[in-house]
Amino acid sequence: MRRKGIFIVIEGLDGSGKTTQAAILAKRLFKTYNPLLTAEPSRGKIGTFIRECCLYEDKRLPTEAEALLFAADRIEHLQKEIKPALEAGRLVICDRYLYSSLAYQGSAGLSLDWIKVINSRALQPDFALFIDVAPEQVLERLQRKKSVMETLETQRKVREIYLRFVENGELLRVNGNNPKERVADELYAKVLELLKTIPGSVS
Ligand code: TYD
Repeated sequence: MRRKGIFIVIEGLDGSGKTTQAAILAKRLFKTYNPLLTAEPSRGKIGTFIRECCLYEDKRLPTEAEALLFAADRIEHLQKEIKPALEAGRLVICDRYLYSSLAYQGSAGLSLDWIKVINSRALQPDFALFIDVAPEQVLERLQRKKSVMETLETQRKVREIYLRFVENGELLRVNGNNPKERVADELYAKVLELLKTIPGSVS
């Protein structure tokens, strides 16, 4: 029996398929690990406020205020859902976490150091994976109404920051440009490899 839970984070651009992939992964790990699948913004008070009041263009807040709200949501999410599950020895899969704040609010101009400071109370995940899809492909999937050039530029900036964390080894890249089933296989294989590195996690 494991002594403590395992905390896995899945990151990616909007439209990268990460939510679908996190769900497939949770299903595949179900028998052995009975994982908790959760997401940020969370379903708590602050996360609900963010989803309802801050994500749409005409409702956007100053970037600093958004970053603080995401950080506050993270603390609530950790306290109410993630930590209790980990303490009960469960595996937690979180769709977006701290790297989303670094990539999105960082690409909007905030210093990565300040984002790290306001998130300094957030628990480090055991491992984090980045489903990497080309920004052009993501845009095609999203078929957004916004100016394509502007959005493409934004997506590129977000991806660039994610890739910095791939380079320094904090995020493990999964090629998300392949068909869904192949991405799911690669993600699953990588997670199994990573789980082997955690003592007592493989039964
Ligand atoms: P999400 O619900 O994952 O969107 P989707 O399921 O469509 O991919 O995330 C909503 C938005 O919130 C997304 O555009 C990214 C943004 N976000 C941040 O900017 N910072 C953060 O810290 C988090 C968690 C999300």
